[in-house]
Amino acid sequence: MICMIEQIKLELRQLLFDHLDIEDVVLEVPKRGDSDLAIPLFGYQKQMGKKLPEIFDLFKDILIQHRLVESVVFTAGFLNIYLKRVDVSKSILNSIHDEKQSFGTQPNNNKTIVIDYSSPNIAKSFSVGHLRSTVIGNSLKLIYQKLGYNVVGINHLGDWGTQFGSMMVAYRMWGDKDKIKANPIDELQALYVRFHEAAEKDESLKQKARDAFLKLEQGDPEYTKLWTYFREVSLQEFMTMYDILDVSFDSYNGEAFYNDKMDRVVKELEDKHLLVEDQGAMVVKLEDDTPPVLIKRSDGATLYTTRDLAALLYRNDTYHFDKALYVVGNEQKLHFENLKKVVKMMGYDFNIEHINFGLVLQDGKKMSTRKGKTTKLDYVLNQAVLKAKQAIEEKNPNLENKDQVAKVVGIGAVIFNDLKNDRTLNIEFDLDGMLKFEGQTGPYLLYSIVRIFSILKSNTIDITQVDYTLYQDEIYYSLIKVLDQFPSVVQRAAESYSPSTVAKYLLQLSQEFNTFYAKVKINDSNDVVRQTNLLLVESILNILIEGLRLLGMKHLEAM
Ligand code: ARG
Repeated sequence: MICMIEQIKLELRQLLFDHLDIEDVVLEVPKRGDSDLAIPLFGYQKQMGKKLPEIFDLFKDILIQHRLVESVVFTAGFLNIYLKRVDVSKSILNSIHDEKQSFGTQPNNNKTIVIDYSSPNIAKSFSVGHLRSTVIGNSLKLIYQKLGYNVVGINHLGDWGTQFGSMMVAYRMWGDKDKIKANPIDELQALYVRFHEAAEKDESLKQKARDAFLKLEQGDPEYTKLWTYFREVSLQEFMTMYDILDVSFDSYNGEAFYNDKMDRVVKELEDKHLLVEDQGAMVVKLEDDTPPVLIKRSDGATLYTTRDLAALLYRNDTYHFDKALYVVGNEQKLHFENLKKVVKMMGYDFNIEHINFGLVLQDGKKMSTRKGKTTKLDYVLNQAVLKAKQAIEEKNPNLENKDQVAKVVGIGAVIFNDLKNDRTLNIEFDLDGMLKFEGQTGPYLLYSIVRIFSILKSNTIDITQVDYTLYQDEIYYSLIKVLDQFPSVVQRAAESYSPSTVAKYLLQLSQEFNTFYAKVKINDSNDVVRQTNLLLVESILNILIEGLRLLGMKHLEAM
């Protein structure tokens, strides 16, 4: 579905092509002025061998035939089109009134998109980078679902790799089951750190770790049991994070899942004559002479890339995807470039996209949630909720469900702070800033919604009383035009894989609503005026709620 203005553009363009022999038409939504569309005419002088006023008259006579064109005006080389505001407004607002939050939702298109997101590493803390991946991936999932795609959300857990060899050795030397049970990730991580300190002094430990991992890879029962345990307790801890964020996945098949699918990849590479030996290891030499991609180490162990290749082929077989997205930080750029190159050399024509993103900074420096309790991510998120609660206590001490509200505000603030800027940029993690009720924040949007709910609470909408002619006034019409953009905004967000497109739009809509709110008495005593106002604010509400949902945020009726 495209928005109304885009539809009209298509129709006007067609109308011109039907009547004139011209190469192209640029129909733009002017940034300044009050017309709905404008066509720069200069380019046609040469093409048509006519003067500007003549060209204008020719265009005008054609355009005015369209049912929604009110008038066509010539200003400074531009042809300005004014639409029938009453008809346009009626059509847009009635659609939103009828469709509510499903405005802009598209029917199933039978296309499948797999999104690999979050994907933290077992036995390691959930980093702010994983938080970004989780939030961006979840939003992309919701956006693509709205556009009619079947979306498969995959948590490609980092549950395999040589580090598990170190973990096994460390656990057998110093592990304490009770401590691990009480605080799995911290304890396992501490073991890992301790192992590396010890291995600095005692080289033989490194070999032990390699041997242990190889045993694990070969399916040794004791090591497998231990690995299963590490995975389970870690996943449990991750689950609390997903609960807070209200994020879920269709698959938790991590790297380990592909162990028995590795031979197939290696064999296929061999069959296609892509695998070559390099100092005992097996590699794929790239066509562009960038460093080769390591597939199998000299001791036979496979690597991150090998597992990603296996995963990709598996996803293709299982889901027959049209598109595969990987929501992973900028630092893995090379890895995904190589992955793309190798599958292409294998003869696959996959549509793969690395959805990269920037760092999380705190006071300008890379934020770390690895060390110490006060910087752990669940602690940080709880802090956001706590601070939101304090603000609510101050602003609205008699509110019901304060804890529930604080959770929506606090978590929403964190999510919005992540999604409001282009994902490739670094983001600043400043709890106080993101929790402000003014400015470009989650709470600001939530507050706009609450404001509308309180208006609608004391009123019932009666659409039969609406006077659509009132919408001709710029104060209404400009807002209606913004509402109309929503379906195209969602479309653009999907095309560029950027939830920030939706986030920025919601800020604009909120700002325009708040200006409207300050200027117009919505609860007018005149029934007709009041109903006309109510239909507009109800539409704004529906779009704001739906937009927030697409970002993975909840909304409130009071706060
Ligand atoms: N576990 C990896 C990490 O934390 C991210 C995995 C991303 N997904 C993938 N298919 N490689 O760095």
